Amino acid sequence: MSVGQKRLFRNLKLVKSDYSGHQAKMAFIVEDGHLIWMGSQSKIPKGLKPKDEFDLKGQLVMPSFIECHTHTVFAGSRADEFEMRNQGKSYLEIATSGGGILSTMKKTRSASVKQLLEKTQPLVDGFLAQGVSTLEIKSGYALDLKNEIKLLETIQKLKGPQIISTFLGAHALPPEFKTHSEYLTYLGTKVLPVIRKKKLSNRVDIYIETKFFESGPAQAFLKQAQTLGFQITIHANQLSMSGGAELALELGAQSADHVIHLNEKTIQRYGKSKTVAVLLPAADLYMKCAYPPARQLIDAGATVALATDFNPGTSPTQDLSLVGFLARLEMKMTLAEVFQAYTSGAAKALGIEQSQGDLALGKEANFICTDAELSDFFYSIGNMPRHTLFIRGLAVKI
Ligand code: NIG
Ligand code: FE
Repeated sequence: MSVGQKRLFRNLKLVKSDYSGHQAKMAFIVEDGHLIWMGSQSKIPKGLKPKDEFDLKGQLVMPSFIECHTHTVFAGSRADEFEMRNQGKSYLEIATSGGGILSTMKKTRSASVKQLLEKTQPLVDGFLAQGVSTLEIKSGYALDLKNEIKLLETIQKLKGPQIISTFLGAHALPPEFKTHSEYLTYLGTKVLPVIRKKKLSNRVDIYIETKFFESGPAQAFLKQAQTLGFQITIHANQLSMSGGAELALELGAQSADHVIHLNEKTIQRYGKSKTVAVLLPAADLYMKCAYPPARQLIDAGATVALATDFNPGTSPTQDLSLVGFLARLEMKMTLAEVFQAYTSGAAKALGIEQSQGDLALGKEANFICTDAELSDFFYSIGNMPRHTLFIRGLAVKI
């Protein structure tokens, strides 16, 4: 949208911020992609009335979705591992015998930016088609300076939603290093400064888990990242009580993700913390894990977000409807909580809550409009109700 351009959207049903229902006959005005006026359509200020007018014909309007945890850039497939897991091999067994993240690493290192873009852009389009206006994508399938940079540069070239990249070099131990500590030192001293200098990402993630990175060495690495100006996030407590969830609190991370294995004390601490608990139930379904204690976290006062964790290993699905469905069915989240987790909760997890995540004055006009009811969402697996997505006030053609 060009500078100064105003657009009026009228005749809409605005979903209330707590998703308890909607207000009919509403209107809003967008200028330079941001909401500058909202209210009853009978009260549109004459002086503000722009030439560009859109009649939304009584459709429901609500914030678009923010997908805050994905591993969308990778080469190859790990479909064979799904069969192996179903025949009794564990994720860790496959990982320690050359499969898992390292098998994706081999294919990803040898792919060009062009090849990666050709594979990734349709996947990004797949999120856009579901009403995702902002998409987080992690690196982490290359595990060396040259190729991790290649992944982050690929992410920068993707089109469609607004994209936030996260550096996940600390995803697994690459074959060039003997110990996780040596690799973390390499990442902290040789890789992070380059990523910072090239402005390829301002977020750093790490996989803290048995047989992956331990919370002790992780702490030093994450502090180094913070000193360089990165925000941090942690893959925490997915398969065990790894200490990642507690470290996220201590370091003031933007989020701790997975967080399945939490004790009562930690749950209460999340209730008082700004760190968001990002819940990834599609991965839990594929991994046959327990689901995270969403109800306890929310009841304690924690902010939760939901995401697909889309990746070729533990969550080869991009389906937001499945994620929300599992949150309702298995984690006892209410429909309103699911919407909040996929909008304002996800915005907070990415540190963009000042400008995105709800429809409020001064924020970006990122919204979807639909003929469906709120209750049609996160109900039918594989089925996102028909809608139109607007990013910064512009309709997205899909
Ligand atoms: O979020 N847990 C670590 N990372 C991914 C899995 C990556 C993979 O298996 O390729 C996750 O589950
Ligand atoms: Fe993940």
